[in-house]
Amino acid sequence: MIRRNRTLRKSPSVRELVAETRPGVDDFIVPLFVTEGTGVKEEISSMPDYYRLSLDNLKKEVNELWALGLKSVLLFVKVPDNLKDEFCSEALNKKGLMVRAIQAVKEAQPGMCVMTDVALDPFSPHGHDGLVKNFEIVNDETLKILSEMSVIHAEAGADFVAPSDMMDGRVAAIRTALENNGFNKTGILAYSAKYASCFYGPFRDALDSAPGFGDKKTYQMDMRNRKEAIKEALDDINEGADIVMVKPAGAYLDIIREVKNAVNVPVAAYQVSGEYAMIKAAAQKGWLNEQAAITESLTAIKRAGADLIASYFAKDFAKLNRE
Ligand code: PBG
Repeated sequence: MIRRNRTLRKSPSVRELVAETRPGVDDFIVPLFVTEGTGVKEEISSMPDYYRLSLDNLKKEVNELWALGLKSVLLFVKVPDNLKDEFCSEALNKKGLMVRAIQAVKEAQPGMCVMTDVALDPFSPHGHDGLVKNFEIVNDETLKILSEMSVIHAEAGADFVAPSDMMDGRVAAIRTALENNGFNKTGILAYSAKYASCFYGPFRDALDSAPGFGDKKTYQMDMRNRKEAIKEALDDINEGADIVMVKPAGAYLDIIREVKNAVNVPVAAYQVSGEYAMIKAAAQKGWLNEQAAITESLTAIKRAGADLIASYFAKDFAKLNRE
């Protein structure tokens, strides 16, 4: 034999030497669910060990994350039913939960990079990401609210706004609004290739935001399409996105690679709630080694081409890889 491939696998030291992919703590964005109240830490039924936090507990969590080397969070708010309306007016409340959450994170850790979800589903009685008229999710009217919302988040101190709504033209609309209001240092992390996916189920439990009618297929992407993901990412970059994201991650590794090869901005991937739930459930049954599954799934996402990873396992990963 001229070449024995096992030579480069023969010991841990050799394997470390030639390993191509090393997800690091710096790569992670930690999604956090925020709720009203004090002292609240509610476990999400379909996401074991993951919680909705009130602002006081949010601060504690952020301090723990910071101590572990995790320096970016992505905020989602759970809005009480009585504040949801057709116009999603709570999304534009300058004293709303998102504004207070951004401030709370910055108070606890001024260095933490704060990213905010921009979409209407938590504020809508319909659970849709845009305004609803006659059972249709209307595009252009939605853009105005998303833009105003982004300016409010920027004003509160958000470092990045993260539109997850998949309306057409939203990145351009948000970028224009930010510039017009003097927020020229606020970034846009665009959920560019966001697929209509069953893997968002547990997230909708977390925010109580399941669509009241229909599904999200008129705005989120069709799982069967690959080229469209590149188009979406390039459009978002042309409209001013700083970072583009692919979501979900695990079932869309090919898309992460396609997008990575097509763009010259950082690519993020979102290991979503259903991916978390699958690993957790199998581990609870003793059918999978949880730590190994965490490491393997995250390494695969990184290997596929993700520069950044949003994951509910970020904290576990940081603990597993503590120096
Ligand atoms: C909604 C939004 C969703 C997620 C992030 N933002 C759900 C959806 O589109 O229905 C999913 C995240 C996850 O499942 O972890 N704008």
